[in-house]
Amino acid sequence: MTSDLSTPPTRYPDELRRRLADELRTARRRTQALTDAVDDAELTRQHSPLMSPLHWDVAHIANMEDFWLVRRTGPGEDPGPGVREDIDHLYDAFTNPRSGRPDLPLLDPVEARAYGAAVRERALAILEDAGPDGRRLMDEGFVFGMIAQHEQQHVETMLATHQLRLGPKALHAPPPPASSRARELAGTEVLHPGGTFTMGTDGTGPDVYALDNERPAHRVEVAPFGLDAVPVTNGEYARFLDDGGYTRRELWSEAGWAHITDEGWTAPMTWERVDGAWHRTSFGAREPIAEVADQPVVHVCFHEALAYATWAGRRLPTEVEWEYAARHDPTTGRTRRWPWGDDDPTPERANLDQRHLQPAPVGAYPAGATPLGVHQLVGDVWEWCDSGFEGYPGFAPFPYKEYSEVFFGGDFRMLRGSSFGVGTVNARTTFRNWDLPIRRQIFSGFRCARDA
Ligand code: AVJ
Ligand code: FE
Repeated sequence: MTSDLSTPPTRYPDELRRRLADELRTARRRTQALTDAVDDAELTRQHSPLMSPLHWDVAHIANMEDFWLVRRTGPGEDPGPGVREDIDHLYDAFTNPRSGRPDLPLLDPVEARAYGAAVRERALAILEDAGPDGRRLMDEGFVFGMIAQHEQQHVETMLATHQLRLGPKALHAPPPPASSRARELAGTEVLHPGGTFTMGTDGTGPDVYALDNERPAHRVEVAPFGLDAVPVTNGEYARFLDDGGYTRRELWSEAGWAHITDEGWTAPMTWERVDGAWHRTSFGAREPIAEVADQPVVHVCFHEALAYATWAGRRLPTEVEWEYAARHDPTTGRTRRWPWGDDDPTPERANLDQRHLQPAPVGAYPAGATPLGVHQLVGDVWEWCDSGFEGYPGFAPFPYKEYSEVFFGGDFRMLRGSSFGVGTVNARTTFRNWDLPIRRQIFSGFRCARDA
């Protein structure tokens, strides 16, 4: 016999518990796929000073879950016992810059995986009996959602490490969907009338897992602007290169020109000319750009995006413009969750979850377009915006200021929309990503804008 009294009133509903457990498992499956794809020597090697060795990510993911979930979901204010506390200092991202991580006395791959498994076992056991306790950390299982998002962020970082890794192809995925409208859409603009709209979120309803820098919702004024219907493609970017784009000082900012001349950059990351034709290398496989001409360009830094926009007689969008285009419904005047409405992403709407391991050609996701006809805002490539990183009015750090606040006001530029490497749990039109304007190891592209 079952009785309602057998369930404590403070336990999360079954449906929520199942959803949170699924997100944790989905993230872990991807961590395992990315780390099982290479041998232990490849896991412990630093493939680039910009990246951690992959086995650092594995134990860092576990340590974050140990610190925030295992130790802080018990009763009372004080943290409870963790799986292990002796290694916190090795896996603190803030005090250990990426370049120095290989020199730390890290767990080896076997120990790192075992730590991850032990923490996860505890986390799932905690979830079984967890429920709201009045703390925001536990509201709708926030900490479980936060930890799933954190692992998925490192899943994308690990994918970027794979991109920098030399050697034969280790990752495989089915090709992205085709597009019959790529040539018609590339370089076209959609006019946005502007006005006032609600940016960001208060984290209510399905936005409960929104991170601190996405909050709070606030009204902003947007002047009329044009925004490209699709991101700039490889084919378009190759025309910029062939027009001397990387040799014309006047197209570049001072910082951008200094960086490309210092580094000797003459094309996006992984591009090279072979027998007179541009090629890129994607996870170990070299392919002619001509074969992927309709895909958004990826692995360009902010300076490269801005130089292209200048060459094209245009500019980059601001974060405000980007979010307005992605969320404002011109029919009702309401701010929505997604370009297509309020329903969650599906494989027909957006290229996410490392499903294809490359961007899809522009126009491949008509079901993901906005009512005004802007395509692929979510998925495919992160899009550089010409905005620095600041907190929204009324910003409050949560649960720790090293996620966002310590980066406010620095030399960062914002990226919006998420890439093909992003897990759906992180893909929100309110989600704010940032990096230095010289960085291009991330899955970054852009689209152009214009004052209207
Ligand atoms: C939001 C992508 C800039 O990787 O530095 C991971 C995400 N924060 N662990 C980063 C993050 C803590 C963060 N970015
Ligand atoms: Fe992290």
